Amino acid sequence: MPETPDAPTLDQAALARALSGFHLIGGKLTRPVNGKLFPVVNPATGATVAEAADGDAADVEAAVADAARAQKEWALLPSRRRGALVHQAAQLIRSHVEELARLVALETGKALRTESRVEANNVADIFEFFGGLGGELKGETVPFGPDVLNITVREPLGVVGAIIPWNIPMMLMALKAAPALVAGNSIVVKSAEEAPLAVLRIVELMNRVLPPGVFNILSGQGPECGAPLVAHPLVRKVTFTGSVETGKIISRTAADKLIPVTLELGGKSPMIVFADCDFEKTVQGALTSMRFTRQGQSCTAASRIFVERPIYDRFVAEMTQRVNAMVMGDPLDEKTDIGTIISPAQYEKVQGFIAEGKNTAGAEGRACARMPEDPALRKGLFIQPHIFTGLDRNSRLVREEIFGPVTVVFPFDDAEAVLQDSNDTEFGLAASVWTNNLKIALRFAHRIEAGLVQVNQNLVVQPNLSYGGVKNSGLGKEASLESMLEHFTHKKTIMVNMA
Ligand code: NAI
Ligand code: MG
Repeated sequence: MPETPDAPTLDQAALARALSGFHLIGGKLTRPVNGKLFPVVNPATGATVAEAADGDAADVEAAVADAARAQKEWALLPSRRRGALVHQAAQLIRSHVEELARLVALETGKALRTESRVEANNVADIFEFFGGLGGELKGETVPFGPDVLNITVREPLGVVGAIIPWNIPMMLMALKAAPALVAGNSIVVKSAEEAPLAVLRIVELMNRVLPPGVFNILSGQGPECGAPLVAHPLVRKVTFTGSVETGKIISRTAADKLIPVTLELGGKSPMIVFADCDFEKTVQGALTSMRFTRQGQSCTAASRIFVERPIYDRFVAEMTQRVNAMVMGDPLDEKTDIGTIISPAQYEKVQGFIAEGKNTAGAEGRACARMPEDPALRKGLFIQPHIFTGLDRNSRLVREEIFGPVTVVFPFDDAEAVLQDSNDTEFGLAASVWTNNLKIALRFAHRIEAGLVQVNQNLVVQPNLSYGGVKNSGLGKEASLESMLEHFTHKKTIMVNMA
């Protein structure tokens, strides 16, 4: 067994090295069959911090075979017992929050105080929440007469394949693994190329409590490792978070196998601000809604902000001033609000949008917050947050998901028109409405095409509330009891006739 520590460590560099080169299959850290590795880079410095296992179909085969074996016994445990084990394993996440926060900050460039620590705590919350739901895996009785018994039972689906992205890797894995496991499935996760370490550590820790083979993780590239996982005949359910394009590819493979998929894809979420809002709270709400502390790398980012004309100028000015005051810098520094973009590819993509906005006649792009001056961060993938105004509704910045710290702001005069504009997008993930007029708030809440509408706040996913999009934002829900029942079990009907 390799030298990964049991006790929480705050030496994230050493931990990253210790986790290098492994998948976790059948309860053990294992090397990739092909022996190949790929570098994991700290986006704040450009330094390679680890080498991850570059998995392929051979590793998928090994992981799925173990997962299928383990699932048979796991499914036979009373569901409350499974829940209790998941809850117990979550305590290891709890005691390692600081370690996980530092590790994910190292590999993703997300600031420790504003993002990474919050994420690590959320992971423990999610596993605890679902761990408590074991007793809810129950069926129904249907009365047909005194000598018959007609019941339904909730059965697990088998091996679940989960493919996750890099923006909140630990939390997005938890939202899939926790309900899948409590429902009696085993799971094989394929981590994102950019962020394989913290999620591997979580699976390693939880395997100290869970039976071997129920919770497995592979690292590798999408086409070489993710695609064979989706295609594997023993994988009976796929759950994915990532781009619309990849979601569609996964859906096509799943359709050929006739297996269910849950897809959580992109967004272009509107934030609609009425003049009667609580101005202070709403301006601050724009900063949190846009997820500037995550460099805007969020599917629910308020990347289209509509502000009622009477307060528009003041709102843009105040928002700009506040984003200006945010501190960009070393993700591991407690003073830092904003860290880095995840990878050179995303960096180029986001810079491309900014350049296009700046070159658009009539548009104005406000670059906010100062670039860090520390020479150690010279190669860091920092991008100044940008607030654009004066763009045309058909601009690519208004229509496409940028997944960076870039938002567009529009004035509006008419509520009905802004409702149409809010819905004029291929996406339908989230929205927020800011007003003290209950009639307006309700009308918008009902008529906005999105899976989640919030009034006077814009929180991230909360355990216990269904979360998931409509239109090109995805299929299915996560985070709630219903999502566990609907997406990780099937209902079997049993009819007994003793007449
Ligand atoms: P992606 O969708 O390509 O990657 C997400 C995951 O899918 C990764 O684990 C990747 O290895 C895997 N994958 C890629 N191709 C695959 C295939 N053919 N079969 C199976 N798995 C595959 O997203 P990427 O390239 O990281 O980001 C591109 C854009 O996607 C972003 O700019 C953003 O707009 C959007 N995105 C949305 C996210 C969300 O939370 N909804 C998260 C990450 C990205
Ligand atoms: Mg991709």
